[in-house]
Amino acid sequence: MPITFNAEKKTFKLDTPTSSYIIKIYDKGHILNLYYGATIPDDEVPGRATRRVNASFSPQDPAMGGRSPFSPDCAPMEYGTNGAGDFRISALSARNAAGDSVTDIRYTGHKIYKGKKEIPGQPSTYANTDDEATTLELYAADRVTGLKITLYYTVFENCGVMTRRVSAQNGGDAPMQLERIMSLCLNLPTMDYDLITLYGRHMKERNLERRALAHGVQGVESKRGVSGHCQNPFAALAEKNATEQNGTVYGFNLVYSGNFSALCECDSNDTARFIMGINPTDFGWTLNPGESFDSPEAVMVFTDKGLGEMSRIFHRFYNHNLIRGKYKTEKRPLLINSWEAAFFDFDDNKLVDFAKEAKKLGVEMLVMDDGWFGKRNDDTTSLGDWFVNEEKLHGSLSSLIERVNAEGLKFGIWYEPEMISPESELFKKHPDWHVHVENREPMLGRNQYVLDVSREDVRENIWQQMYSVLSNNKIDYVKWDFNRNISDAGSALLPPERKKEFFHRFILGTYDLMDRLCKAFPNILFENCSGGGGRFDPAMLFYSPQIWCSDNTDPIERLYIQFGTSMCYPASTVGAHVSANPRTGYKTKGNVALWGTFGYELDPVKLSDDDREIMKAQVKLYHETYDLVRDGDLYRLISPFENPYHAVWEIVAPDQSRVMLTIVTMRSELFGNTIIKLQGLDPQRYYRNEASGEVYSGALLMNAGLNFSDVANRDGDSAIIFFSAV
Ligand code: DGJ
Repeated sequence: MPITFNAEKKTFKLDTPTSSYIIKIYDKGHILNLYYGATIPDDEVPGRATRRVNASFSPQDPAMGGRSPFSPDCAPMEYGTNGAGDFRISALSARNAAGDSVTDIRYTGHKIYKGKKEIPGQPSTYANTDDEATTLELYAADRVTGLKITLYYTVFENCGVMTRRVSAQNGGDAPMQLERIMSLCLNLPTMDYDLITLYGRHMKERNLERRALAHGVQGVESKRGVSGHCQNPFAALAEKNATEQNGTVYGFNLVYSGNFSALCECDSNDTARFIMGINPTDFGWTLNPGESFDSPEAVMVFTDKGLGEMSRIFHRFYNHNLIRGKYKTEKRPLLINSWEAAFFDFDDNKLVDFAKEAKKLGVEMLVMDDGWFGKRNDDTTSLGDWFVNEEKLHGSLSSLIERVNAEGLKFGIWYEPEMISPESELFKKHPDWHVHVENREPMLGRNQYVLDVSREDVRENIWQQMYSVLSNNKIDYVKWDFNRNISDAGSALLPPERKKEFFHRFILGTYDLMDRLCKAFPNILFENCSGGGGRFDPAMLFYSPQIWCSDNTDPIERLYIQFGTSMCYPASTVGAHVSANPRTGYKTKGNVALWGTFGYELDPVKLSDDDREIMKAQVKLYHETYDLVRDGDLYRLISPFENPYHAVWEIVAPDQSRVMLTIVTMRSELFGNTIIKLQGLDPQRYYRNEASGEVYSGALLMNAGLNFSDVANRDGDSAIIFFSAV
């Protein structure tokens, strides 16, 4: 059993195939974490419960006597709480009816069972069958306020993944305010780690940043109302010498699309506490007696085989246990999107011309991006008016779709459901439906306000509008966009004491709309987007199997974006298109986009004959490598963050029978030697270079490597080389 309880020692042991996690119930019901790391034998208990306390400055439980070696200030508290002797950054704080926020939870019971429960109203990872996962529910309560806490841990048996979340229930008889409720809290016995996070901005998402932990609090957060371009809800703690191939790494990813915190505090005992969850700034939740609150879920990966293996564990897990629906397994249509080809300047004929030419290249679906509704011919108007602009399309949407279908292409459409233009029919009818606070004119972003989808009536209106278009037309794909962040956060319906609930209610509203759409239209392929990759997180992947990774389609810039994104997100989720942007030729654009969903974002009518031939070959390669890219294991061989000349990656089939090696030269190194050592092959097998016919052992390819100095050695050039097992 992957989760066991030792009643004598009062310990829980949670085992994935590669890790052990040990929880102990200490003398007076304090819940402690004794271990998280590589597998250790059952019934061995590391002695971490007590630590040297800080003399008279570390508070002690009077029930243990004044000279106990135990203090919550220094112990590895499993879920550190505020105000009751633990001064480190806390995972939980509840302000009670008396007005104080002292929060002290002690163990009250537990339950272990096969399978994994859903979180009501929220996205989460899932077990395909109950056999795949085992869950521990650990119960704790604050005896003074009646606050009841359930800590959920699910162990996935075929991969090195554990998930955690928390729910709180008011078991007292007076209202209380949750001030912070983190999804995970982890105490590590040393602070000898680097913190790795993904920072960025619009057009430059998810850059890798690595810094040594230092005393005090450090980490990343979002207060933008979304997970955001600027920081991703991903963090890793890596041993200082951990590399792609070696070393201990803890990876964390929050299944949440709103404000988050991922923080690490290193204390005076040189230990590290990591917490991850909803950002407590601008968060609060009133719990009346009997009411409960569920935190989002956090995914935890442990490996002692380096960052590359951490990523592969995330990738396999997300492909298998997060992505849902028809397109989890079914081949997704290869699309061309109208945005970079035409922006707002299109009509039915232009789109049909796109379809006709794209079909010749082998494209399978046309996506009509922004500009098809209301009076929208630029970004100043019409968000919220989700009715077809028949004047622009010279007729109905269904007649356009029929014409596109007649060219042999499926049809997709763009929405930005959580937005409203001040210049729109919807705003005229409902001038209080946008996110705002009283007496303050809200900020604009791209000329638009955010629509208050925390409100049911607002959601219902958008739902009806979307339902009408989607159910009356043959639509195969929806791109769901979100083009600004949330300022002036407030909802006209929330009373003052509940205003702090807004941000989370907004996200729950988004989830609700997405859930309804997925259920009502199971055959539609959904792609998320937020000005590119501003909401690239596991929660969005629960609703849409792919996310537009960035508005930056320059292939050299994309190298950084895709390397960073691959820290935890698999290639199957990474929206990547070939566009007309000028820096490199179409060969390199295609080779980079093949590490993703692949598609086009250009005017196919304007292509030269040579470029058309390149694209036909790319499309062929896309089909041929579809399964390999989606199911294969990624190895980041040379990172653009570390090497100014090349970016090199490799995708290896799960049975190690085929390898796709991509080399991109960002800047050629005159007279340099590019020796590349492959990874992830079977050392005993022999592999043939499919182009040259040369045969090498897996051992040679991995240990000695090959000299690729003559391959793609001009600035912006690239090559894909396949090896197959003989
Ligand atoms: C931002 C997206 O990232 C683009 O791909 C495009 O859909 C525009 N919005 C449309 O406004």
